[in-house]
Amino acid sequence: MKFSIISIAWFIALPVTASPTSPYRQAASRTIFQLSQNGTWFENLAIQQNGLILATRADAGELWRINPKEGTGQNIFNFTGTDSSLGITEISQDIFAVISGNVDLSAGSVTPGSFLIWKVDTSKGGPPTISTLAKISDAVFPNGATTFDDDTLLFVDTIKGVIWKVDISTGEYSIALSDATMLPNGKTPPGINGVKVWKNYVYYTSSTQQLFCRIPVDKNVSATGPVEILAKGFFQDDFILTPWGQPYIATNVNNTIVTVNENGEVKVVAGSNSSLALAGSTAIQFDPSDRSYKTLYVTTTGGLKAPVNGTIVEPAKIVEVTLKY
Ligand SMILES: *[C@@H]1O[C@H](CO)[C@@H](O)[C@H](O)[C@H]1NC(C)=O
Ligand SMILES: *[C@@H]1O[C@H](CO)[C@@H](O)[C@H](O)[C@H]1NC(C)=O
Ligand SMILES: *[C@@H]1O[C@H](CO)[C@@H](O)[C@H](O)[C@H]1NC(C)=O
Ligand SMILES: *[C@@H]1O[C@H](CO)[C@@H](O)[C@H](O)[C@H]1NC(C)=O
Ligand SMILES: *[C@@H]1O[C@H](CO)[C@@H](O)[C@H](O)[C@H]1NC(C)=O
Ligand SMILES: *[C@@H]1O[C@H](CO)[C@@H](O)[C@H](O)[C@H]1NC(C)=O
Repeated sequence: MKFSIISIAWFIALPVTASPTSPYRQAASRTIFQLSQNGTWFENLAIQQNGLILATRADAGELWRINPKEGTGQNIFNFTGTDSSLGITEISQDIFAVISGNVDLSAGSVTPGSFLIWKVDTSKGGPPTISTLAKISDAVFPNGATTFDDDTLLFVDTIKGVIWKVDISTGEYSIALSDATMLPNGKTPPGINGVKVWKNYVYYTSSTQQLFCRIPVDKNVSATGPVEILAKGFFQDDFILTPWGQPYIATNVNNTIVTVNENGEVKVVAGSNSSLALAGSTAIQFDPSDRSYKTLYVTTTGGLKAPVNGTIVEPAKIVEVTLKY
């Protein structure tokens, strides 16, 4: 079968209309594991009940497991036939859904029709049991994913500008939500990037439109009201919400983690533009053993898309951030 290649501009310079305000109460950050080569890209992560981190790589169809206590990591699975792994979400205790497909970071292209969702079962200990959950061949460029309820997961389509929903038991999938705020800005992907559910809202970031939004939904993931824009004016990658709805957003090219208050004001809580500490921050998870939600794990690209100070990159890594507030 022949696929058409859709060109994506990964290495574009992005105009930033408003800046995340200067750092306040800068959090402490510590690298817990780093790959050995430049040009690597940790894209997303999820945490097992035992605290081990599962991380995906946009530059390789590989799943990595990182032990944050020992500072070690290993490639535990290759997603056969695909060269990029993307969104990951825990669908039931210690069972994860992971998206992979063909994304060529250096050529800046994706292969539509190449994407699938894998079921990674770590519940029995030892090596995970891995099977196909769904072939999502109608998706153009899937990215972030989240679990909506016991039967349904959601993933975004960063070129098509929609949120797909997937029936976890049958693998059937359909478009649940679409809105102009989810589209790429002009022809420049990525559009919608991260997705999370809080109360009866679906929250999402839209990277090149520089928006953080939410939309109210019913149990069918159908919209019950209009999209609300919660913050804007900076490049946004994936994000996380506390149980009380506070967001922490990875800014990728801005090398920081930011939070947004109820007035839409954006504050840098960790990292800085000119530092490698969180260079190319892509996604965030809470350390489940910290019930105060002050310990975050962050995946990075080492600044691949926008080198620090214009020229400096490093291998992708996993960073522990301890918030101070
Ligand atoms: C980070 O944000 C600032 C201010 O918004 C912007 O000027 C800068 O270009 C951004 N950094 C990168 C690496 O894009
Ligand atoms: C995955 O593929 C890489 C490169 O081909 C190889 O070095 C590695 O051993 C494989 N990993 C597993 C878990 O099979
Ligand atoms: C449920 O969502 C699907 C799209 O995912 C839509 O086609 C259908 O009309 C919705 N059903 C109801 C009752 O809203
Ligand atoms: C980037 O430049 C600033 C200002 O000169 C400097 O303080 C900082 O250390 C540089 N960053 C890196 C990673 O070298
Ligand atoms: C952030 O870094 C970029 C690239 O090094 C630089 O062009 C920009 O001026 C910096 N912005 C701020 C606000 O420091
Ligand atoms: C990564 O690139 C930087 C330059 O940006 C270089 O200083 C460093 O040695 C490289 N690291 C590796 C592991 O190749």
